[in-house]
Amino acid sequence: MSITFSEFKDQAKKILNIDLDGYKLDRVERRTKSLMRRYDVADFKECINLIESDSKFKEAYLNHFTINTSEFFRNPESFEFLKKNVLPELIQRKNKLRIWSAPCSNGCEPYTLAIILKELGLSSNRFEIYASDLDPEILNKAKRGLYRENALKNVSDSRMRKYFTEDSSKENFYHLSNDIKKMVNFEQKDLINGRFDRNWDLILSRNFFIYLTKEMKDQLIKKFLSVLNSDSYFFLGNTEYIFSADKYNLKKVYQSIYKYNNN
Ligand SMILES: C[S@@+](CC[C@H](N)C(=O)[O-])C[C@H]1O[C@@H](n2cnc3c(N)ncnc32)[C@H](O)[C@@H]1O
Repeated sequence: MSITFSEFKDQAKKILNIDLDGYKLDRVERRTKSLMRRYDVADFKECINLIESDSKFKEAYLNHFTINTSEFFRNPESFEFLKKNVLPELIQRKNKLRIWSAPCSNGCEPYTLAIILKELGLSSNRFEIYASDLDPEILNKAKRGLYRENALKNVSDSRMRKYFTEDSSKENFYHLSNDIKKMVNFEQKDLINGRFDRNWDLILSRNFFIYLTKEMKDQLIKKFLSVLNSDSYFFLGNTEYIFSADKYNLKKVYQSIYKYNNN
């Protein structure tokens, strides 16, 4: 006998150990159905059986459910603002900057920050960049640092020459230089259930809130702000807004960059 999507979701939550209720459920249902079509899975019951018994299918479900798209200098004007305004101000004020990209997907975002800090001439003992994601597969890709051309469309020619080398066998794939790779520390973390480290000066949580319910978004904003230092910055994706930012002690300084002050 088949089961409803709601029953599927409750069983999948337990097997995958992910709080699916925090995500927009109509989207989770759409993504589940499109994967079922791709794998020719008859109904939700068969889908749950496969998630439980077939580790390859489980991995495919997780990959499909979490969209991993990312690119270097995504919304370049916001990164330019960060480079010209936010980072110089933080560098002047702080001895050591702590930056967290969460979720970081394939690493394009934290590596973009690493490139910017290198160009600002900040020595490596004056900053730490941490980057986390739920998906262990994508973190392996991030650590590898091999990117297809389409993730590099906002990277200027001079940056391409400085930080990337074309792969010798795969056409249109580029390796990020080790200099930049070693500036970022990666870690697997579920942002919904996981515990957060404290004391951050800049948190990037970009293109993730769009997948969450309003309640989960509100809960997570508060969770991020509870570990962000006062007078520090919170950077969202360009299509993600915080309505009534002052309710969270946030002040918008540019597009989707907010300054947090809880004094
Ligand atoms: C679209 S990517 C965002 C990447 C990057 N921040 C950017 O804007 O380019 C969304 C990421 O969220 C991750 N994700 C989904 N649910 C998560 C959770 N509960 N905890 C941590 N990461 C999660 C996915 O694995 C995916 O890599």
